[in-house]
Amino acid sequence: MEIDVIGGDIIKTESGAIVVGLFEGKKSLDGDVASIDRALEGVISSLIKSEEVKGKLDEVNVIHSLGKLAAERVVIIGLGKKKELTTDKIRGVIAIACRQLKKQRVEYIATVNYGEGINKIIAEDSAQAIAEGALLGLYSFKKYMTDKEDKKADIKKITIVCSRKTSINLVKKGVDKGRIIAEATNLARDMVNEPANYMTPSHMAEMAGRIAKENKLKIAVLDSEKMQELGMGALMGVAQGSCQPPKFITLDYKGKRNGGVELALVGKGITFDSGGISIKPSSKMDEMKTDMAGGASVMAVMAAIARLKPRINVIAMVPAVENLPSGSALKPGDVLKAMNGKTIEIISTDAEGRLILADALGYANKLKAKRIVDVATLTGACVVALGHVCTGVFGNDKEMIGKVINAGDVAGEPMWQMPMNEEYKEQNKSEIADIKNAASGGAGAITAAQFLAEFVGDTPWAHLDIAGTSYGDKERKYYTKGATGVPVRTLVNLVMDISRRK
Ligand code: BES
Ligand code: ZN
Ligand code: ZN
Repeated sequence: MEIDVIGGDIIKTESGAIVVGLFEGKKSLDGDVASIDRALEGVISSLIKSEEVKGKLDEVNVIHSLGKLAAERVVIIGLGKKKELTTDKIRGVIAIACRQLKKQRVEYIATVNYGEGINKIIAEDSAQAIAEGALLGLYSFKKYMTDKEDKKADIKKITIVCSRKTSINLVKKGVDKGRIIAEATNLARDMVNEPANYMTPSHMAEMAGRIAKENKLKIAVLDSEKMQELGMGALMGVAQGSCQPPKFITLDYKGKRNGGVELALVGKGITFDSGGISIKPSSKMDEMKTDMAGGASVMAVMAAIARLKPRINVIAMVPAVENLPSGSALKPGDVLKAMNGKTIEIISTDAEGRLILADALGYANKLKAKRIVDVATLTGACVVALGHVCTGVFGNDKEMIGKVINAGDVAGEPMWQMPMNEEYKEQNKSEIADIKNAASGGAGAITAAQFLAEFVGDTPWAHLDIAGTSYGDKERKYYTKGATGVPVRTLVNLVMDISRRK
C-alpha cells in the first residue's frame, strides 16, 4: 500500500473516502471537520446533535457525500477525549477505519495528519502513527488460502493531506519511519504465523540470510558441530529429539566503524514446542508454532535498524531449535552442561526455552556484548500474571529496565516490571547439579528469569517474557488475529534511544 503526502485542501481531494477524526464531547466543530460539515450541508453537526455520532474512541461512521465533496464518502472516527489522545490511539483509530473501508472495497483513502499539535504530539509522530496504524491494521496472513478472493479488495493508497505547507516534510519523514517499523513488525508476524512444518530452524536461517542480503547485514549460522565445539550443551540437549538440525543464527549491524557490540538482542527460536518428553496437552498445542516469536522479532528489528541507520553496533542472536519427543530426546532427570560451565538438571523438557537461552546468553557474553536484551515466549506463568496486554520485564539493571519500559510506552506496547528478589533463586536449586530447569512453589515467570540471570553474569540485562503478548486470539486495535509482532517496535525504539544517548 502506498502512503502519499501532499499539501492542499482535503475537501478538494479526490478519493473513495476521507477519514477525519472527531473528539468526544465537542459541541461546535472546527478545522477540517467543520469545512467538511459545511460542504455536506450540516449532516455531521446534525448527527452529533441527535447523538448518533459521539466521537467515542474507535467509533466509526461512514457517510456518503452524494457529490457534495470530491470524495465519495466521509468516515468519521471517534478519537475519544481530546486530553487523552495519544499516538497509540491514533494508530488504533486509523487501523479500525482502514479495516472498515477495506470491507467496503474502498481503494483510495485521504486523511489529514490528525493528532498533530494535540497533547504535544508533533507532526512527525502523528504521521508515523498513522502510517504504522494503517499498515499494521491491514495486515493479514492469507498465504495458505487457495481462494484469493480477499486479496482483490486491498486498499491501494492513503493520501495524507497537509493544510500547512510547513509540515509536509516532517509528515513525510514520519511516514517513512512508520513504514520501516511497520514493515519490520509485519515481517515478524509473517514468520510467527508461518506453520512449523515450513518454519523450521533451517528455514529461519534462510530467512535471516534473506534479511541480511536485502539490508547488507553480516550473517553467521552456526551448525551442530560448531555448537558442540563451543560447548553449547544445553542448546544441543533440546535439539537432540528432533530430526531438524538446530541453527544458531547471528545478524550483525555495524552503525559505527569501530568498537565492540553495544547491544545483543537474543530471541528464543523454538520453531515448535511440543514440550518434548514432558509433552504438552494436545489442546492448543498448534499455537506452539509461535514459540519462535522472540527470535523472529529480533531478526525483524535488525531489518528495521539497517534501514534507519542509527550509530550503534547491534547483534541479534537466535538459537533456532525444534522441541520434540523421540527415542533420542532429552529426558527429565538428565543433566546438561551449558557453555559457561554450569550444569543443569532437567526437571521438565518443556522448560526448554531457558536451556537454549542459557547458551545464547553465554555466547553474547563470549562476544563481550556491553548490554543484553533477550526476548522469549518463556512461560505460561507470565500469561497467568499479565494476560495478553503487558509484556513482563525482568533484569539485573535498573537503567536497562527503565529504557525498555520507556521504549515500550512510546510504541504502545505496554511493559510491566516484575520482581527479582534473591529469595526466588532458592526455588531453582538442584540436589545433583548447579541448577534445575523448572521450579515448584509458584512465580514461574520469575524463577525462569532467575534461571536466565545465572547465565548473564554482570552484563546489564533485561529479559522480556512475551508469552502472552506475541500472539492474540482476537482482533484488537491494530492487531489482527494471530501474531502481533510484539515487541519489534519497542526494540527499534530502544536501539534508537541507546544510539542517541551516548
Ligand atoms: N513455550 C512455553 C511457554 C508458553 C506458554 C508460551 C503459553 C506461550 C503460551 C514454554 O516453553 C513452556 O512450556 N514453559 C513451561 C515451563 C514449566 C514447565 C516450568 C510453562 O510455562 O508451563
Ligand atoms: Zn516448553
Ligand atoms: Zn517454549
